Amino acid sequence: MTTGIIGQPLPRVDGRAKVTGAARYAADFNQPGQAYAVIVSATVGLGRVAGVDSAAVEKMPGVLAVLSHLNAPRLAYGPHKSYIDPATGERLHVLQDERVRFHGQPVAVVVATTIAQAERAAAALRVSYNAERPVVDCAGPEARAIVPEAGRQPDARLPADKARGDADRALAEAPVKVDETYDIARENHNPMEPHATIASWSGDRLTLWSKSQVVVNEQAEIAAIFGLPPESVTVICPFIGGAFGTSLRTWPHVTLAAMAARHVGRPVKLVLTRKQMFFTTGHRPRTVQRIALGATADGKLTSVVHEGTGETSRYEEFMEALTSVTTFLYSCPNVRTRYRLVPLDTGTPNHMRGPGEASGVFALECAMDELAYKLRLDPIDLRRRNEPATDQGENKPFSSRSLMKCYDLGAERFGWSRRTPEPRSMRDGRLLIGMGVASASYPAFHAPATARARLLPDGTAEVEIAASDMGPGTYTSMTQVAAETLGLSVERVRFSLGRSDYPPAPSHGGSWTMASVGSAIRAACIAVREEAAKGRKDRPIEATASSQRDPEAAARFSMHSFGAVFVEIAIDPDVGTIRVRRAVGAYGIGRVVNPRLASSQCTGGMVGGIGMALMERTVLDARDGRPVNAHMADYLMPVNLDIPQLEAHFVAETDPHVNALGVKGLGEIALVGIAPAIANAVFHAAGKRVRTLPIRIEDVL
Ligand code: MOS
Repeated sequence: MTTGIIGQPLPRVDGRAKVTGAARYAADFNQPGQAYAVIVSATVGLGRVAGVDSAAVEKMPGVLAVLSHLNAPRLAYGPHKSYIDPATGERLHVLQDERVRFHGQPVAVVVATTIAQAERAAAALRVSYNAERPVVDCAGPEARAIVPEAGRQPDARLPADKARGDADRALAEAPVKVDETYDIARENHNPMEPHATIASWSGDRLTLWSKSQVVVNEQAEIAAIFGLPPESVTVICPFIGGAFGTSLRTWPHVTLAAMAARHVGRPVKLVLTRKQMFFTTGHRPRTVQRIALGATADGKLTSVVHEGTGETSRYEEFMEALTSVTTFLYSCPNVRTRYRLVPLDTGTPNHMRGPGEASGVFALECAMDELAYKLRLDPIDLRRRNEPATDQGENKPFSSRSLMKCYDLGAERFGWSRRTPEPRSMRDGRLLIGMGVASASYPAFHAPATARARLLPDGTAEVEIAASDMGPGTYTSMTQVAAETLGLSVERVRFSLGRSDYPPAPSHGGSWTMASVGSAIRAACIAVREEAAKGRKDRPIEATASSQRDPEAAARFSMHSFGAVFVEIAIDPDVGTIRVRRAVGAYGIGRVVNPRLASSQCTGGMVGGIGMALMERTVLDARDGRPVNAHMADYLMPVNLDIPQLEAHFVAETDPHVNALGVKGLGEIALVGIAPAIANAVFHAAGKRVRTLPIRIEDVL
């Protein structure tokens, strides 16, 4: 019996491979005759390389090459189509000229026979600079905000400016208002697996074993950089040791690995150091946001103003959907949003764990909590009074929206009714207890994808697509979709991903993998099943099929996942330590393909949100843009002792419009809502409103 496989809490099909070490990550694919490359990173924040003193280093034991802008090959850097790169600007051209655009930019690469020799030689290489003073503070006196070029394009999710009604006038006239500024620190990605690439040339053909959330994009980009047809580059990445955005782009180290391998005529392995992970692999941009809310005395919103500014680099405009959720989360006739960028002398930011939405919703949901206190309303009651019937920003019905059901389910599981509303009113011994709540939302995206399915005469099947699995369980959930659609047991399906020569999948990000890749697999398996029904089972039956969202449904409906997040914290009033004691998230994400993995993904997201709220912050030295805490000792992240009992629940939700599978996507939304729920709990516990992340001990003392 094979129906009902979708929806089963199956353990990971790749679990055994992962815990026994059989799963191979990029740096595990060692090649015969492989040499090692180590990047030398700029130690000034802006300026020019004046000299590279490579003569002594070239004579060091085992050194095969020292490449800098002085001798590196000039690369084609041709155009290519990317899902991921910023729409405006030019990606970093590595070792092509003497300019230093930010601290940590690669200025040389040293290649040697062993990793120890390469590290020693890289440390010995003397690079001199003509340094200039960079601008690295987006809120400092030299910062200049710009209207993002890409924001002028008609993308409903990333508008620079959007308005309905007259929000400023309604705000001036509102009997009750909140008008505050929220500041979220820059954060850096610190996955378990650092970025790594092994590059191997055979004539004009290049194979890359490389950590990537989108192998077909890395293939296209590296081919364009080296002036090759895409077919001559193969990117392989079957496993990813955590990423959540950092491996969406093809960062400069991939180019450097390929350049070095071609130069020395041997395969080359390049692994970034933990410190280098803070330089060239993106970060969550710092954001500064104003939220102004106006309301009637009975708690109806009359005005919402959301003005947000984010960091970008001088050479690219990285945009995120900072203000998007504000346009549809609540019912309000007068809404105005504005989004600006501040170009800085730093590397380009990138997508990080619920990019945009996590930051924007933090500001909005803290402001809603502040408004609830002013109105003396329960924060859930305030949201209920402003629950919209439609997406008022787009003037469309929602394909499905279960926000209030999420609040009902979450409140019941959390025990919200035990909360007493007054700040500092709940205690456990000497500890101050706080309970906070916030809404979450993330778009239900769906991108075109193609999959191949093959039914073999022995009654097993193979399914292939160039998708990725950075941890949420793509291997397992896609095996479930294929098995159910083909009418086979899970054991009879072999699912493969992570090769650029498989049919193309979109980036493994934006919570669209289940919808996009799952729909393509379903389509390919239906095609195979129909072919099999015609008879002839003595030879393999193969079909390749594509899927995309029904354009009519996409035009008619606003499609988003929603959730409600509840948090209990304890503050030690003597020393100010803030501990999360419990968190409960309730989500409406359409159909849940695997409840065990969905729950795991949500609680994993909550861990990231606890980091965002209470720990993570990259500090730049104002003089030279150096990240001063670029290591895991001083860049704080949650560890086991910081993580209490976390629960994720899903409301029953059927959405016939999003796709044939009825899945709306999950992953990013788990990062949204948790940080404001924590900040709101901090206010409830301590009576202090902290509008800056991360919240620190000194903020509550
Ligand atoms: Mo997600 S931040 O798009 O990997």
